[in-house]
Amino acid sequence: MRTVCRVESRELETPSTVTLRFSYPAPARPGQFVLLWIPGDDELPMSLSYTAGLKGVTVKGMGATSRHIADVQIGDWVGIRGPYGNTFDVSANNILVVAGGSGAAVLAPAAEAAHARGARLTVALGATTAPELLFRERFLAMGADVHVATDDGSIGHKGYVTDVAERLVRANEFDAVWTCGPEVMMVKVIASADRRGVPTYCAIERHMKCALGLCDACSIGPYHVCVDGPVFPASQLVILPEFGHRKRDPSGRSVPH
Ligand SMILES: Cc1cc2nc3c(=O)[nH]c(=O)nc-3n(C[C@H](O)[C@H](O)[C@H](O)COP(=O)(O)OP(=O)(O)OC[C@H]3O[C@@H](n4cnc5c(N)ncnc54)[C@H](O)[C@@H]3O)c2cc1C
Ligand code: FES
Repeated sequence: MRTVCRVESRELETPSTVTLRFSYPAPARPGQFVLLWIPGDDELPMSLSYTAGLKGVTVKGMGATSRHIADVQIGDWVGIRGPYGNTFDVSANNILVVAGGSGAAVLAPAAEAAHARGARLTVALGATTAPELLFRERFLAMGADVHVATDDGSIGHKGYVTDVAERLVRANEFDAVWTCGPEVMMVKVIASADRRGVPTYCAIERHMKCALGLCDACSIGPYHVCVDGPVFPASQLVILPEFGHRKRDPSGRSVPH
């Protein structure tokens, strides 16, 4: 589906991150993403941070296009196509969710779906500073056991969220780990879970153009992230030399992360 939607609500989640909600009738599942554009600018892939009722995206203002999207106001119009991609398998019963920065945007609706079918949730949430922690209250509202890490130590563990994840994996018997964030972070999370034999599922990002599996812009190894992902079992990613190291730039050139 492809249409133009009026923004119905705008929530400042952190100093740099905004959630936009809009009425978009196509069914969507946690993990899926849309291509979103505003007049006069590029189209960007955005995970659906809300997949039921009013759909939503949660945008961190980084470069020019994402900042432009984060500046959209209630009543403005955005172009949406999708949803695209696969989804998280929410059948596990005891799940560790590891989110770095805006990675929480894709993990929160998946965690809600798992919670709705009775899963136990533990969340390791990382950010640069306390105000930048995304969706902490939303995870707490699911009854999740939430552990936080910040780079500056302003709340929770001072340091990497991967340290928190390592401690949690050692101390618990999880049957799945879900993670989204910088790839170097996900590589460490996978290693921690792997040592305990726990399967990990990662939501990854690549440059996207068609989102239909046709243009190759989003390829990683034999996969197209737009149709084979964005959610992958870690076992498919760790054997790919580019995972955690390289990605394609807008012209298709392989560049370091
Ligand atoms: C499946 C998926 C889900 C994502 N979900 C989220 C999310 O929920 N929240 C969030 O904040 N970010 C998300 N992103 C990242 C987002 O799409 C952008 O990559 C990021 O916001 C940087 O864009 P920029 O304009 O700030 O970067 P810049 O570095 O300024 O971008 C340079 C140029 O490349 C274009 N561009 C940048 N990234 C992409 C891309 N991935 N595909 C196509 N064109 C691109 C820009 O429009 C610009 O023209 C997701 C990416 C993917 C692939
Ligand atoms: S974006 Fe074109 S193949 Fe994935």
